[in-house]
Amino acid sequence: MQIKDSFDRTIDYVRIGVTDRCNLRCFYCMPKEGIPYEPKADLLSYEEIIRLLDVLGNLGFRKVRFTGGEPFLRKNFITLLEKTHQLAHFKNIHITTNGTLMTQHITKLMELGINSLNLSLDTLDADRFKKITRRDDFKKVIQTFHTLIDEGFKLKVNAVVMKGINTQDILPLVALAKQHPVSIRFIEEMPFNGGYKENSTIFKATDIFKTIKKKHVSLSPKIGKHGDTSTNYSIDGFIGDVGIIPAFSRTFCDTCNRLRITPKGDIKTCLYDGGTYSIRDYIRSGVTNEQIASKFMELIKLKPKDGFVAEKGTNKSLIREESMSSIGG
Ligand code: GTP
Ligand code: 5AD
Ligand code: SF4
Repeated sequence: MQIKDSFDRTIDYVRIGVTDRCNLRCFYCMPKEGIPYEPKADLLSYEEIIRLLDVLGNLGFRKVRFTGGEPFLRKNFITLLEKTHQLAHFKNIHITTNGTLMTQHITKLMELGINSLNLSLDTLDADRFKKITRRDDFKKVIQTFHTLIDEGFKLKVNAVVMKGINTQDILPLVALAKQHPVSIRFIEEMPFNGGYKENSTIFKATDIFKTIKKKHVSLSPKIGKHGDTSTNYSIDGFIGDVGIIPAFSRTFCDTCNRLRITPKGDIKTCLYDGGTYSIRDYIRSGVTNEQIASKFMELIKLKPKDGFVAEKGTNKSLIREESMSSIGG
């Protein structure tokens, strides 16, 4: 079975935010005082998440990514991974993490066959790391990076690029892909930082491309996987590759394959919509799995054509007030 939206896109990738909490305070994600966290009772429980994943698996979903906040902050996150593993719908379980809290879980991840991680790291400079994340955890994250590589994980590094902040980090980060089998992905900044102020300082995907191409003339596009947000490029003599994610320019929407569930159980059929429906309230009202499946199909049919249409249909100030930590990235 495959579920299509009204634009003939197969939707088979679900991103689940397991917590809105984070131990970092990246300024492009949330204000320095943090965000008001949801009470635990308002979050989807692990049982509820597994139930939803089972329904989605039966609807043809094959890829799941757990995000946060920082997913390893949620108590017994490993239990959720074990239960997801037992479901069998999802051959590959993916996680996006800030890498500060996970080294003690690496063996368990390997046992569960979870070998694909996306690690957020915006700079290789410890002082700048502290400025960006407002926390002093650079050493931990770089240690995680090396441990994951040594253990053979398929690793992608996510770096948000910001004009006047870390554009000087682009080339040093690219250099990581020379010796290491990693994908270094540069992301356009999006307005989800818990209090966005309109400005024109965005460093666009095209600017990122030019910066890398100037130094690495052999930079050439690779054939991507369907649904990829990043366009990946090889560089002669490099083991790894680099990617660029036009998250703000939104040029990949016509192949979008994703559905989001926020920590408190709001469905977002597009990152730029305002959260369309509380699946948490729906399942807590005592419905059957068949009813949940029909609800998902109904919501997927309403998925907007692209992130611009989604944004137009939403109260703009709502988007501006949202933090990526409570959306799940
Ligand atoms: P893969 O599954 O490895 O392709 O990763 P991913 O890009 O789906 O997920 P990840 O959590 O690593 O996200 C990387 C960046 O892409 C983050 O800044 C996300 O917010 C952004 N991103 C992910 N999905 C979407 C999307 O549907 N739309 C937009 N505009 N940005 C997205
Ligand atoms: N713009 C772009 N990417 C962001 N992320 C968090 N906030 C933003 C933002 N405002 C990224 C993180 C992480 C991913 C899930 O989302 O760096 O890698
Ligand atoms: Fe935490 Fe990720 Fe937000 Fe940084 S971007 S504060 S690591 S959730």
